[in-house]
Amino acid sequence: MKLLLFTGVSLWSLASARSSASVVQTGSISTPAGTVEITKEEQCACRELRASFAKNVILPGQANYTEQTKDYYWDVRADLSPACVFVPETADAVASAIEIFSSCNAQFAVRGGGHMNYPGSNNIDGGVLVALSSLNSYTVNKDSIDVGPGLNWYNVYTALESHGRVAIGGRMKTIGVPGLTLIGGFHYFNNKYGYAMDNVLSYDVVLGNGTQVTAAKDSHPDLFWALKGGANNYGVVTKFTLKTYSVPKVTSTIQMFNESAFPQFFDAMCHSAMVDEEDPTAAGMIATVSYNVTTKVASASLLGVQEGVSMPPSKFANFSSIPATMRINNVTTMGQWSSELDSPKQMFRVMFSHKTMKPDSETILSIYKAWKAAVEQISDVEGLYPTFVLNEITPSSLRVANTNGVGNVWGLKAEPLMIWQFSTGWALSQDDLRVEAWSQQLTERLHAINQEKGIASEFVYMGDAGGWQDPFVGFPAENVNRMRDIRAAYDPSKTFSRLNWGGFKLGM
Ligand SMILES: Cc1cc2nc3c(=O)[nH]c(=O)nc-3n(C[C@H](O)[C@H](O)[C@H](O)COP(=O)(O)OP(=O)(O)OC[C@H]3O[C@@H](n4cnc5c(N)ncnc54)[C@H](O)[C@@H]3O)c2cc1C
Ligand SMILES: *[C@@H]1O[C@H](CO)[C@@H](O)[C@H](O)[C@H]1NC(C)=O
Ligand SMILES: *[C@@H]1O[C@H](CO)[C@@H](O)[C@H](O)[C@H]1NC(C)=O
Ligand SMILES: *[C@@H]1O[C@H](CO)[C@@H](O)[C@H](O)[C@H]1NC(C)=O
Ligand SMILES: *[C@@H]1O[C@H](CO)[C@@H](O)[C@H](O)[C@H]1NC(C)=O
Ligand SMILES: *[C@@H]1O[C@H](CO)[C@@H](O)[C@H](O)[C@H]1NC(C)=O
Ligand SMILES: *[C@@H]1O[C@H](CO)[C@@H](O)[C@H](O)[C@H]1NC(C)=O
Repeated sequence: MKLLLFTGVSLWSLASARSSASVVQTGSISTPAGTVEITKEEQCACRELRASFAKNVILPGQANYTEQTKDYYWDVRADLSPACVFVPETADAVASAIEIFSSCNAQFAVRGGGHMNYPGSNNIDGGVLVALSSLNSYTVNKDSIDVGPGLNWYNVYTALESHGRVAIGGRMKTIGVPGLTLIGGFHYFNNKYGYAMDNVLSYDVVLGNGTQVTAAKDSHPDLFWALKGGANNYGVVTKFTLKTYSVPKVTSTIQMFNESAFPQFFDAMCHSAMVDEEDPTAAGMIATVSYNVTTKVASASLLGVQEGVSMPPSKFANFSSIPATMRINNVTTMGQWSSELDSPKQMFRVMFSHKTMKPDSETILSIYKAWKAAVEQISDVEGLYPTFVLNEITPSSLRVANTNGVGNVWGLKAEPLMIWQFSTGWALSQDDLRVEAWSQQLTERLHAINQEKGIASEFVYMGDAGGWQDPFVGFPAENVNRMRDIRAAYDPSKTFSRLNWGGFKLGM
């Protein structure tokens, strides 16, 4: 069976109308969306990069330009038109580029797997795009793996497969290693091994002045901590060393439910988040409800994975007892499983919005109903693809950071939480403002109800957040202050705050 997925189970064909940008004159690029100006600072950076690394610089109009500025991106809105693309092959080349950006005072963006979902989160108009795709080597060690930032999670799981080991990373095939690891990292096995960030043993980092450092428990420990959830506020990571675990086989489950089963489905999700074991069996899931505005049919899907062989998977017994429209359990490997779970790029314009709450299945059911009713208000939007996604945060998943002597920037105490998210896809740029405002307003309205009920959490996960959200508000204030102090020490000229476009920034 071949499944094509993004955050829900679905099939589609990718219609790609692409017209690559071309240079019409020095100082500007003409694109389908209009003219993009290139400042003299940005021209300086592209010129100096070409002088030192001619074969690694791609200009508008060249064949690879479209590949690097569009094909690698998940959200069509994130396709932008940089003045040039730099594709470094070594960490030293990344360091030279950062020195050039700093000396030219040029704006730049960095792209790993290209999954972050809004314009400017990982690409740039006019400035320089640093595309990490060629930093794609890896080394498998006894109980860790060294990974270049050009790799995706499928690459990592397959590299480890013959060793019978897994790393803690993304749940879909083509998500990038670097973005996910720098913002947290939800995997099926969080309940036992913590988040991707908790499993990084060391980071090789290029700082804002071009210096390269290794951040680990005993080498720049303050930077090591700040990189565990601190995103791209400190530097460009050129190598991650990730812990691995012996998990030769996994048991997977795919289950689908019709709307009659939703109350039980949400209840099983909430119970799963609340499981509080000292020594858990690694298992977890992603739950998605999709609603088709044409057929008016809603269906829920569960993608679950448990470590080891357990048929049927014991950790999903609460779901397995609900009448399903489809249920497939399988014993497989993490590599094989992830090979089936694609999230094709360039499928649509797409926006995420989410909030977090204490698990409460009746409230989740009412959020679902409010969402479904609200979808009708935008049902005329072309290519509308609305989904409602749930992700659990279990107490044991948070205990890993609380007991490993390092911690992470989230600073969450060990209690169950549920992230509820709207992922909304659509086709045309003319609907951007309407769909974006709809998604944000609906999310804020429902969160306000949870605040009143006293069941809201202010935690915001960068991976599920829209560009309008501020994850730093959800971290403890002392952690944010510490993150700023660490920035002052490692990036005193604020290269990554002034010049580097990207997802979630600490602010000036
Ligand atoms: C379909 C889909 C499924 C998802 N599933 C999951 C999931 O299972 N678990 C989960 O936790 N999240 C998930 N996410 C969210 C995902 O983790 C984020 O989108 C993440 O940013 C992806 O990493 P990337 O390398 O692909 O992203 P990119 O868009 O390439 O990068 C994200 C950010 O990190 C910066 N960055 C990239 N590389 C570096 C580097 N080497 N050094 C410094 N900064 C860098 C970029 O500039 C950008 O700001 C999913 C997203 C999508 C769209
Ligand atoms: C551009 O594409 C060609 C052909 O696929 C490839 O050989 C070359 O290395 C690419 N250049 C860059 C900078 O990625
Ligand atoms: C299953 O649900 C019961 C309550 O009905 C709960 O006590 C138990 O912890 C749940 N188990 C899992 C693995 O979610
Ligand atoms: C929902 O699915 C269950 C289990 O397959 C089935 O018995 C039931 O008739 C379905 N209900 C509707 C309304 O389709
Ligand atoms: C079950 O797992 C096997 C072995 O990894 C794989 O070949 C097969 O495609 C899987 N089947 C399903 C239905 O997932
Ligand atoms: C909704 O259902 C219609 C009719 O079956 C189908 O053509 C369309 O692709 C579906 N839309 C989505 C977003 O799945
Ligand atoms: C670069 O920045 C780091 C962190 O602030 C500092 O320790 C180092 O001395 C700087 N190197 C140079 C060459 O300025």
